Amino acid sequence: MIIFKYVKFKNFGSFGNYNTTVSFEKNEMTLVTGSNGHGKSYALLDSITFALFGKPFRKINIPQLVNSINNKNCLVEVAFDIGSNSYQVFRGLKPKKFEIHKNGELVKQNAKSKDYQKFLEEQILKMNYKSFTQIVTLGSSSFVPFMQLTASDRREVIEDILDINIFSTMNVVIKSKLSNLKERVLETNNSMEILKEKKSVQEDNIITLKNKQEENISNNAKKIEKVEKEIDRLLSEIKELEQDVKEFSSMKEEQKNINDKLLLKKDKIVSSIKEKNEKEKSKDFYNENESCPVCSQKITEDFKQNKIKELENEIEKKENATKELKDLFYEMKKKSDFLSDKLKEMNDINVVIIEKTNTINGARKYIESLKDADSTINSFGESIKQAEEKIQEYEKQIFDLSLTLAELKEEKNNLDILSVLLKDSGIKAKIIKNYLPIINEIINKYLSQMNFSVSFTLDEEFNEQIKSRHRDSFGYMSFSEGEKARIDLAILLAWREIAKIKNSAHCNILILDEIFDSSMDSVGVDDLMKVLRTLANSSNIFVITHKTDQLYEKFHKVISFKKKNNFSKMSSK
Ligand SMILES: Nc1ncnc2c1ncn2[C@@H]1O[C@H](COP(=O)(O)OP(=O)(O)OP(=O)(O)O)[C@@H](O)[C@H]1O
Ligand SMILES: [Mg+2]
Repeated sequence: MIIFKYVKFKNFGSFGNYNTTVSFEKNEMTLVTGSNGHGKSYALLDSITFALFGKPFRKINIPQLVNSINNKNCLVEVAFDIGSNSYQVFRGLKPKKFEIHKNGELVKQNAKSKDYQKFLEEQILKMNYKSFTQIVTLGSSSFVPFMQLTASDRREVIEDILDINIFSTMNVVIKSKLSNLKERVLETNNSMEILKEKKSVQEDNIITLKNKQEENISNNAKKIEKVEKEIDRLLSEIKELEQDVKEFSSMKEEQKNINDKLLLKKDKIVSSIKEKNEKEKSKDFYNENESCPVCSQKITEDFKQNKIKELENEIEKKENATKELKDLFYEMKKKSDFLSDKLKEMNDINVVIIEKTNTINGARKYIESLKDADSTINSFGESIKQAEEKIQEYEKQIFDLSLTLAELKEEKNNLDILSVLLKDSGIKAKIIKNYLPIINEIINKYLSQMNFSVSFTLDEEFNEQIKSRHRDSFGYMSFSEGEKARIDLAILLAWREIAKIKNSAHCNILILDEIFDSSMDSVGVDDLMKVLRTLANSSNIFVITHKTDQLYEKFHKVISFKKKNNFSKMSSK
């Protein structure tokens, strides 16, 4: 409950550069009098709403609120208590000012005065301009009674009064949370898709690497196998050749022996020819000589012939022996030549063996190089391992994201449920439905107190149905001005009573601007006064009127407004 203490202003509307204070300290009924244009509405209606909500009660442009004669230092201050806290709100124009003081200290404001205003309405007053005017004022030219508000404005006022606008606030918060959540779900899904894509790239990578690795391994193995077969073939060929060479190796010795023997044979042939020549010489001597040249002794013919014959025999023998030796020599020479050919052949084989051995060595080196290539193939293994590690990391991240997603989805579900509950058709509708019979009952109570015997019903869509005795049901607009005034007042008083029960948008001032004046008949005035009196012990009731004579006696207090030197002045009795 807001307990207003005073409103104080200067250079506001028709008021000049002096402080005018309307006090709300005593709960009493105050009659507010003064001629047209003397400042009553400024002092009681516009001052309070301007201070609290930054806009006047009436549709006046804000710059026009500054007193036009002084044209500066317009300042309105309203003081009130809520619970154990005291507040003052200062609102000024030329220079601009908006300050909230709590227990004498300025409440710090952030840069935006819009937020500061929101703070005042939502955190301190707990009602907005619309609700405030609905429970504090009635009458006045620019006032729109509840029954003439739109359905959404009616809802707003009722929510404030039933103190359930928190659900609307919550709904706004939840909606923004939901959209935030949706964004996060979208982001998380995106991140997950990216990770899945990354994972599949790595999986493809592994398949490619493995295929390549297998292909290389099998290619290398095939190559090695082929080369090893070639080596085996060469080795077996070498073995055969070596066998051949082994066979030839005895020939080498044989050839040496034969060559030695050939030399001997050659010597023998030479000496045999030499010996034969000696014999030829001796024979020639006997044929040519008759006596010995040394002793001159005569050589007999017989001796001579015998000797010649003997020598001829020996010559023949020698010739035969030489021939034999030569034959033998040639035969051996033939064999030696044969062996020499064979040995040449062996050398050729040895060359082939060396060549083949070289080829084998080359092939072995090639195998080594292929085996070395296997280690490069192992680098595929390293890449595969790295890819597998990456996949593991991605899977972990995907798992974490799926947990987050599940949490977000659960949170979203909860918020969805809450959002449904917080909709106009949710909890609020239930609460309103519960309160509607009470609201209707209170409205009807005030209507009957004002001797207006109709049955008023507000439905869940806040549409009214008013039934009067012996008549069909009517809408608000089909009633007379005086009747409308009674309905408006009954509704206003009902809001005040409900607000009091709910301890919500309730306050200690009620301002009735000229509702007694035009349409209200004298019976109506009496009925209304009766009702107001029941409220006077808990509220400051201001009745602005021109019917001073008729009402003067009925009030504890009178404040009157007069214009002096173009400035409005207030005096009280
Ligand atoms: N900025 C201003 N500076 C000075 N006077 C102003 C300014 N704005 C309006 N006025 C004057 O203030 C007066 C309006 O006062 P207000 O509406 O409070 O009168 P009232 O007592 O409620 O009159 P009524 O009985 O007709 O409702 C008018 O005379 C108007 O010309
Ligand atoms: Mg007025």
